[in-house]
Amino acid sequence: MRNNYDNVARYYDFLSRLVFRSAQRDAQTILLPFIRENSAVLIAGGGTGWILEEMAKVCLPGLRIHYVEISANMIAIAKEKNYQPHEVTFVNMAVEEFGHELTATFDVIMTPFLFDNFSQERIKPVFLHLDRLLKPGGRWLFTDFHYQQQAPLWQRALLNSMYLFFKILCHVEASALADIEPLFSDHQYNRHYEAYYFGKFIRTAVYDKKGC
Ligand SMILES: C[S@@+](CC[C@H](N)C(=O)[O-])C[C@H]1O[C@@H](n2cnc3c(N)ncnc32)[C@H](O)[C@@H]1O
Repeated sequence: MRNNYDNVARYYDFLSRLVFRSAQRDAQTILLPFIRENSAVLIAGGGTGWILEEMAKVCLPGLRIHYVEISANMIAIAKEKNYQPHEVTFVNMAVEEFGHELTATFDVIMTPFLFDNFSQERIKPVFLHLDRLLKPGGRWLFTDFHYQQQAPLWQRALLNSMYLFFKILCHVEASALADIEPLFSDHQYNRHYEAYYFGKFIRTAVYDKKGC
């Protein structure tokens, strides 16, 4: 199955730290204070679930979290994490197949290093699907590698090596990063916060969806 990280689930966090030190985590944890208490949260592609432990430490209580992961091995590891006091529903499914019966259900959607997996033609349909699941006035917490037209050579080399590695092991369908920013601006989102990590290789942002 494409974009499924089953084969690397046990080593993923180690590899992330080896290459990026704490940057991938820092770029996500910085966004957690933007989640209001008692929110309904959708995490798409959360990996091993370390983020759930951080949410247990940092976020105000009462979160109802749907943890949607295409990798059964990632879900199995995530289930072992200490995520109390929040309520977590684990869903082993591709997020584009999740929740077609739902509309405007979530206050917050998190997509940490999810969109870099999709081929150019799949990005917009997945974006529109998630947009439909987010309530008006909701928040989208977006973290990913930073798309730049003139990225430094070291970033292009590192990105290409990662794509090759994850294509072989996880059948990742993408071979290049896409510019996601126009999708947010074209669909009534305001950028509320933005920060960069690892020499601007990683970008993290909070987008507020217009509405009540
Ligand atoms: C690059 S990893 C990032 C993991 C985690 N967010 C982190 O930063 O540690 C991408 C994760 O997204 C999951 N994934 C990829 N495509 C998905 C999809 N369509 N629906 C749900 N999960 C997906 C993979 O199984 C993998 O665990």
